[in-house]
Amino acid sequence: MSKQAEIIIEGKSYQFPVIEGTENEKAIDISKLRDLTGHITYDIGYKNTGVTKSAITYLDGEEGILKYRGYPIEQLAEKSSFLEVAYLLIYGKLPTAEQFKNFDTSIDRHSMIHEDVKKILDGFPSYAHPMGVLSSLVCSLTAFYPESLDPNQTEEQVDNSIIRLIAKMPTMVAWAYKKSKGRPVNYPINDLDYCSNFLHMMFANPTEKYIVDPVVSAALNTLLILHADHEQNCSTSTVRIVGSSQASLFGSVSAGINALWGPLHGGANQEVIEMLDAIKADGGDVQKWVAKAKDKNDPFRLMGFGHRVYKNFDPRARIIKKACDDILGKLGVSDPVLDIAKELEHAALTDQYFVERKLYPNVDFYSGIIYRALGIPVNMFTVMFALGRLPGWIAQWKELRENKEPIGRPRQIYTGETDRDYVEMNKR
Ligand code: SDX
Repeated sequence: MSKQAEIIIEGKSYQFPVIEGTENEKAIDISKLRDLTGHITYDIGYKNTGVTKSAITYLDGEEGILKYRGYPIEQLAEKSSFLEVAYLLIYGKLPTAEQFKNFDTSIDRHSMIHEDVKKILDGFPSYAHPMGVLSSLVCSLTAFYPESLDPNQTEEQVDNSIIRLIAKMPTMVAWAYKKSKGRPVNYPINDLDYCSNFLHMMFANPTEKYIVDPVVSAALNTLLILHADHEQNCSTSTVRIVGSSQASLFGSVSAGINALWGPLHGGANQEVIEMLDAIKADGGDVQKWVAKAKDKNDPFRLMGFGHRVYKNFDPRARIIKKACDDILGKLGVSDPVLDIAKELEHAALTDQYFVERKLYPNVDFYSGIIYRALGIPVNMFTVMFALGRLPGWIAQWKELRENKEPIGRPRQIYTGETDRDYVEMNKR
């Protein structure tokens, strides 16, 4: 007999099954609640609501644990490659050498984008935010590959869309960057690995030979792995709910890019660097800014701090913080805001306001310092988050489709006007 939860409403007892995941997470299955009791649950921001069962990523916010398909993020960040992690997230297991070679080769072969995409790119002013450009370019793939729109497409056709999206995303990101600089785009080079190819497309110029720095490529590989998935965060939930209407992979991911753009989500990495630069420009008085973050009358928040799930250190932040010193040292780069970030972290973590609310540095707090050291401009930071998160969005969309999950349609509690009759305008 499965465990049951009892809810008593107006003196009447109702039993609901308790379900348990493989990591002992527990949930009350309330799928019959409204039919049985006429009540719905209310959980603004879905802070306590499970919307699916997923086998992709497990995280424990209290213990600071993050695992992709059971593999600890620390091991993957140290030993794996971003493409191998993408394969793991999407297909559920680490690839054999032959499977990886086929995956890598397919991606190489699809890294070009239709020349007509340049016409879309040219329609944007150079000052367009690259996240808006990227979400448009990703959605434009529905036009070039209309078979991706068919909800009854074959598994092979789904796989083709997956390969195309992973292959073309770096090209689109790099082209959006070149467009913003008014410089000519670079085409992918198949004999470069995924991260090196991206760096080449981003930074090569016709006037000089561009040599990819292996330190930069390795650092990017680690950052992309750390961003690859994070279970049901805001942008992934967006991809899933859009996909639940049987919208295409390209359309669902385009929506996810827009959700990630928000400053409370993926947009935070750009906000963190702008905040650190502002603190530096203001004289570096971190206590003043910590006080502002605590002041309810001040809209300022310590960007890169706090998390809906992690009430302990974000394990990704711990890895990135260590990588900061390592990579900046190897590149011979010194960024004064790194010291400010460390001072800010120390000041916050010893302040009751942050301790009581369990606010720790999250993935965005240190990542921008590395991106900047790699030569990536601040307004491209959130696009880099999207490039990293792509395999997770794909894996979650694919899982929803394979599980034939129903269209997402939450309920509400109505608080508006009750019954009233229409009055002609001349009588109001
Ligand atoms: C990402 O979900 C994911 O997994 C996301 C992500 C992923 O990989 O997909 O991990 C990526 O989005 C990381 C988060 C990046 N965002 C930021 O760094 C923005 C700054 N952080 C916050 O705005 C906030 O912490 C959130 C949005 C991340 C979480 O917000 P919650 O869970 O809704 O918490 P809350 O806003 O209700 O805050 C609880 C309390 C409040 O104080 P009280 O009302 O209790 O007095 O903590 C305070 C908040 O005011 N608080 C902060 C704060 N974050 C929360 N106070 C100052 N500075 C902050 N950063």
